[in-house]
Amino acid sequence: MELIQELEKIYQQAFTSIPKAQTENELDNLKNAFIGKKSSLSNITKKLGSLNVEEKKLVGQKVNEISRSIEELVYTTREKLQNAEIEQQISTEIFDILRPLPSKRRGTLHPITRIQMEVEDIFVSMGFQVMDGPEIETDYNNFQALNFSDDHPARDMQDTFYTDDGNLLRTHTSAIQVRALKVLTPPFKIIAPGRVFRYEEVDASHENTFNQVEGMVVGQDISIAHLIYTMEELLNQIFGKKMTVRLRPGYFPFVEPGFELDFQCLVCGGKGCSVCKHSGWVELLPCGLIHPNVLKFSGLDPSVWTGFAFGLGLDRLVMMRYGINDIRYFNSSNLRFLNQFQG
Ligand code: FA5
Repeated sequence: MELIQELEKIYQQAFTSIPKAQTENELDNLKNAFIGKKSSLSNITKKLGSLNVEEKKLVGQKVNEISRSIEELVYTTREKLQNAEIEQQISTEIFDILRPLPSKRRGTLHPITRIQMEVEDIFVSMGFQVMDGPEIETDYNNFQALNFSDDHPARDMQDTFYTDDGNLLRTHTSAIQVRALKVLTPPFKIIAPGRVFRYEEVDASHENTFNQVEGMVVGQDISIAHLIYTMEELLNQIFGKKMTVRLRPGYFPFVEPGFELDFQCLVCGGKGCSVCKHSGWVELLPCGLIHPNVLKFSGLDPSVWTGFAFGLGLDRLVMMRYGINDIRYFNSSNLRFLNQFQG
């Protein structure tokens, strides 16, 4: 039948031209030409009335079939065109994540990071190397190898978060002393900054998550004089003036003798004020000569090797340097606080 032949011709033409469309606009025009209201297909539909029942059925079915196939072809062609456009964008557009933002509101270094970097620079200039360690530690590195036995009462000085598998969130950076002794050959000088965690009642000067910088020197004939000199040098540079320090006895199982190092209060010059609790001295960092047992645990002979170690509380150092009166600001993400340290 003539109409059927005509329909097949339309079908052939549509399947040749539609996939060649280059743009969605072109595709829409082709769709209209083949199956739109004024299309060749709708012209045939208009002729259906003049056909007998048999022919009407045959031609009607063919029109529907062709119309559906052309719809599908338009749909898949459109998909291809859209995908090609996305591919084109991906391959030509460059998104540079390191490009500085045009806005003036750039992120800045946290005051603790800032001072940590300064402390690192000071020690590196004195020949120290900077070490790192994990925040989740073994009980052995955090306690046992530092001369805390399982039932040592000094464990209670550092309330501890344990994990289910028996490890813990390190309570101090002293755990890195043990790691250093394992991997380095003396003589060596290291510092190890890091975040530490304690199950602590939080108040203006106590956090449960805070920062320390561990220091450790192992060599021959290392004395308390070396320790004091190093600490004074650090404080002179951090505070930009000559600082007066003193040592008091302090107890830590991994040093012997152990000390608390204080510096003369900067606010009152040692006369006594509320900052130094009227003592004239501000407590800053515990330290001491490395206990012979710690050296022995790592296979070093304490009659040959000696050393000193210290644990600087970084948060409190930053508080003193900038006159910050509450440690809780540091982890608060409070922009009004953080924005003061721009530049
Ligand atoms: C220690 O953590 C020892 N590991 C330090 C040490 C190292 C001694 C090497 C001897 C040799 P201590 O618990 O005192 O010691 O903590 C050291 C410093 O961390 C303190 O002086 C203080 O500045 C800071 N610190 C301790 N607890 C907190 C806390 N809850 N919040 C903020 N800072 C704290």
